[in-house]
Amino acid sequence: MKYSGNYFVNTIGCQMNVYDSEKLASILSSNGFEKTTDYNDADIIVCNTCSIRHKAEEKAFSFLGRFAKAKKKKPNLITVMAGCVAQQEGKKAFDRLPHLDIVLGTQAFSRFGQHLEALKSGENRIVDTNDSPMIYETLPDTECFNENNISRYVTIMQGCENFCTYCVVPYVRGAERSRSPEKIMEEISLLAKSGVKEVTLLGQNVNSYGQREGEISFPQLLKRINEIDDIQRIRFATSHPKDLSMDLIYAIRDLEKVCNHLHLPVQSGSNNVLKKMNRGYTRELYIERIAALKEQCPGIGLSTDMIVGFPSETTEDFQETVKLLHEVEFDSIFAFTYSDRSSAPAAKFPNQIDESEKKDRLNELLKIQETITEKKNQILVGKLLKILVEGKSNKLRDGFKDLNGTLKQMTGRSESNKIVHFPSEHANIGDILEIEIKNAYPHSLWGYPVGDETVKNEK
Ligand code: 5AD
Ligand code: SF4
Repeated sequence: MKYSGNYFVNTIGCQMNVYDSEKLASILSSNGFEKTTDYNDADIIVCNTCSIRHKAEEKAFSFLGRFAKAKKKKPNLITVMAGCVAQQEGKKAFDRLPHLDIVLGTQAFSRFGQHLEALKSGENRIVDTNDSPMIYETLPDTECFNENNISRYVTIMQGCENFCTYCVVPYVRGAERSRSPEKIMEEISLLAKSGVKEVTLLGQNVNSYGQREGEISFPQLLKRINEIDDIQRIRFATSHPKDLSMDLIYAIRDLEKVCNHLHLPVQSGSNNVLKKMNRGYTRELYIERIAALKEQCPGIGLSTDMIVGFPSETTEDFQETVKLLHEVEFDSIFAFTYSDRSSAPAAKFPNQIDESEKKDRLNELLKIQETITEKKNQILVGKLLKILVEGKSNKLRDGFKDLNGTLKQMTGRSESNKIVHFPSEHANIGDILEIEIKNAYPHSLWGYPVGDETVKNEK
């Protein structure tokens, strides 16, 4: 028997959760629910949760907590905690959220429909944190795509067995599993037919794609995807520095659709800290890989993740991280203060760093990076960048003369992942245009489409 009513899915966390939430939504649709964008109208509320840091976890509890009252007024309202916090907490989730109906772990998606049926037949407080050997497969619902769907995520693998000592992922996402190349190709081909121009391939460590299954390697997978007509750009995340092969560097260099950008989390610039983090590389090896990338792929955009205030990180260790920032000159960084996760080994490490000290280190790092980002953006002034147009923005920049009042300001990204704004009369979402960069700002660039005579500038 199917349901009738509305569903609302709230996503907290990473790109993989965004992708997973679409799967949850499609399961809800096939069980008779319809999508609503207002949770007050919903008959079932799903929160797809993240437990990477304490703050994300608290966000999940606080979001779901607000429906305790609503359920009193609307007793048939169903609330579901899905994803990483669900996997981590299991039935403990009811201690803080006694009104929850389903706790759906990261590997339980294939059984979600079954659990909804069980609720209907009177079961309550269902918990499923069981493993699943395979990644849940369903094709995306391309019927509901619109012109904004030019860029999509595609999960190619899940789980992680690297066991970095600060990280919950191996515990909440389980053992590493890869999807078959056939399934991935089928999904991306369907996306391409539906107007998608760019795919971002997702996995906790894409460099080890297919290894456990004896499948083709990640560079070989990229080569296959590169041949799909209508896909114009391929991105991927995340790469682990210890597994970054020359073959992957050559794939970035040689495959024309693979964007000249790499997100390569370093986490720390100190060998002491890297060792305690169990990262499996030294700062020297990391810098060597970066040098190879810069040599083989000139102009490559580089981004990274950093953690400050890992247990026992000294000011000298932190200065090593600062030094690395200056040496590499990333285009952008995602920096976090270390967050204690009770299931990860580092929670038991001695010499935890004071929260205020962690914040000071984070602010120092972000401030330094700001000048580096601006400097790297500045270098691009006067250069031509190929932009995939992603959307419109409302306002034309000051000093810009719209000759006949028909211009729109559009936004897109360069291969190197820079956000570029530009005025245009003709550009459409999904076009790839050449833009001459005129101005650089801390977080974006501004320029003019080459050869577009309708566009003139006063400055
Ligand atoms: N505390 C702070 N940051 C963390 N990350 C992972 N675990 C933690 C933690 N316990 C960061 C890492 C990772 C990114 C996704 O989140 O930098 O690359
Ligand atoms: Fe976490 Fe390390 Fe695996 Fe990344 S590689 S998901 S940081 S354990």
